[in-house]
Amino acid sequence: RKPWGAFESAFVRSPSFTDEVGGIESEVRMEDEGDIDVNQELSPLAMSESSRRLIIMGGPASGKGTQCEWISRRYNIVHLSTGDLLRNAVAKDASPGSIGALAKMYMDNGKLVPDDVIIHILKERIVQPDCQERGYLLDGFPRTRAQATALIEMGIRPDTFIFIDVPDEVLIERVVGRRMDPVDGKIYHLTFKPPPEEIKGRLITRSDDNEENAWKRLRQFHENVSSVKECFQDIMVQVDGASSPDSVAESIKILLERKGPTSRIA
Ligand code: AP5
Repeated sequence: RKPWGAFESAFVRSPSFTDEVGGIESEVRMEDEGDIDVNQELSPLAMSESSRRLIIMGGPASGKGTQCEWISRRYNIVHLSTGDLLRNAVAKDASPGSIGALAKMYMDNGKLVPDDVIIHILKERIVQPDCQERGYLLDGFPRTRAQATALIEMGIRPDTFIFIDVPDEVLIERVVGRRMDPVDGKIYHLTFKPPPEEIKGRLITRSDDNEENAWKRLRQFHENVSSVKECFQDIMVQVDGASSPDSVAESIKILLERKGPTSRIA
């Protein structure tokens, strides 16, 4: 299945979902789940003993995607980024009434996509065999208490919840300077991680990466973060994300490989 498979199937039939964003009302129809029972409880025993189930959370541009690159490679787990799933949907089809159009409207307004929609998408993706066999790294989900509750109700029990802590002003600077390579999806920063000269011309800026939008995303993050953290207190590790990417990576690696109760590396 393609990474956006969930979208292809998730929004074609009834029941419908209606919401209003930026003064525009939209309706997107949601499809039955077909042969996948998204309400099934996932048995931890179905997974390999050694596979990891991780969640990574942090503010907008806190470095989740940057860290996920090496974490998913090192532990051979599936990187599930809800932001990437949504961007793929937009790239694929953003015509009126499509899930891409709906997602774009929320993202470009710096708003969270409604819980019902993103929960449905995540559920459909996480029950796929690759996640069940290899384990997964949830990046950008859950972001609200409703999303966290949905995971718990589904019987999904992560081993570790990684929280990347970065001051607001640093986050804004990172959002504004971020660039992405459309060829391989690699993330750069004009100051902190300059791209090689030969690919500079093809780099793109995400449509939601502007300062005004970043503050809106940050506000929503602060409104929701405590309630999500509360749900995973017992498995939470927290790192100082304001240092260099390598140093953040080293902190995460130490915590993951010396797994224990809630701890912090500052
Ligand atoms: P999403 O793509 O998840 O956006 P985000 O949470 O704002 O996170 P980012 O992808 O912006 O940043 P990141 O933490 O991955 O940082 P990165 O590694 O790129 O979601 C986008 C939108 O989709 C949301 O706003 C929402 O609308 C919607 N959405 C997604 N999930 C949803 C959900 N569950 N519910 C509802 N809506 C949802 O790094 C950022 C920059 O900093 C880069 O340039 C990088 O090179 C640089 N950098 C990284 N680490 C460091 C470091 N240590 N030092 C210096 N620079 C660094």
